[in-house]
Amino acid sequence: MDQNEEFISAAQTATLERFEVMHRAPSNIALVKYWGKHESQLPANASISFTLSAAHTITTVVFEKSNAPKVAVVLEGVHTPAFEPKIEQFLDRIRLYCPFLKGYSLHIDTTNTFPHSSGIASSASGMAALAMAVVSLEHALGGIREEDKKRKASFLARLGSGSAARSIEGPIVSWGEHAELPHSSDLFATKFTQSHDIFQTYHDSILIVHKGSKKVSSTLGHSLMNNHPYKDARFEQASTHMSTLVHALKKGNLESFIAVVESEALSLHAMMMTSSPYFILMESQTLAVIKAIWAFREETAVPVCFTLDAGANVHLLYPDQYREPVHQFIEQVLINYCEDQFYINDRCGMGAE
Ligand code: DP6
Repeated sequence: MDQNEEFISAAQTATLERFEVMHRAPSNIALVKYWGKHESQLPANASISFTLSAAHTITTVVFEKSNAPKVAVVLEGVHTPAFEPKIEQFLDRIRLYCPFLKGYSLHIDTTNTFPHSSGIASSASGMAALAMAVVSLEHALGGIREEDKKRKASFLARLGSGSAARSIEGPIVSWGEHAELPHSSDLFATKFTQSHDIFQTYHDSILIVHKGSKKVSSTLGHSLMNNHPYKDARFEQASTHMSTLVHALKKGNLESFIAVVESEALSLHAMMMTSSPYFILMESQTLAVIKAIWAFREETAVPVCFTLDAGANVHLLYPDQYREPVHQFIEQVLINYCEDQFYINDRCGMGAE
């Protein structure tokens, strides 16, 4: 059986005139990066991430039966038609798996806990919250069991935005088939259950060195991997990094964790700098922060490291027991590289609710 078939809902016809539900889903930060994909939102390599908690999206969806179904998106209280094509595309992609959606209009009211212009991507948390809402409707229609909801939500969220698949559960989640992870799949993300305690309460302070949306979309970035001169080497590296990181996460090996996480961040940006066309998403402050982190770690032996996503902002990752010295370091040094001195103290969380 095609593995996708498991996700085709049995709930065919809607019997609820109106259904309203609210979900909260967090953002996540990848440790091994997803960068490159095939058709149907399938990843070129396996990735693994920390699910966050402070940075999240809260979405209320009203599903209402209608003869002329339509979608309306309200972002931070303002009707935002610019977001509607992305939602329509998502609904098109999930239609096969959610035939019960037929005949429903969707009114989506969504807010983020982080400022829209902060440079933190809201697609992972936003798509995860929306996928949860769709699965809640399916459950209300009797089409899915409670215990299967999260897996389906991750499957659907992936079709909206790949990294969103990893925002359903927490605190550590992988997505993409990998030999070290027996139950892993390209179709949905799964919780990593063998982590050492130290990683369960990890912190992520997000230093906003540059506000505003990024110049190059992730979707375009992924597509540039198709003809990338280093693509084979990159996918092999990601796979090796995954193996090393899985061992580090199990053993609580911080040295190995730091080496993989920082190398992944720099490799991601190296791919951007060597694609055709090439581009740079880092700013000069990004480099200044990275160098300051290296100097601080050298001097103090505090096991703090950085990672980057597809933008200029720096994520500072560190264990709970080092939060005092790291917070002092941010307040005394790193804050000066942040736009308007803005940063967000976040930490690992448990996923969508
Ligand atoms: C650099 O999930 O945003 O953050 O599937 O096209 O929506 P689409 O891409 P997206 O890509 C995320 C890229 C990344 C790395 C990661 O989160 O793994």
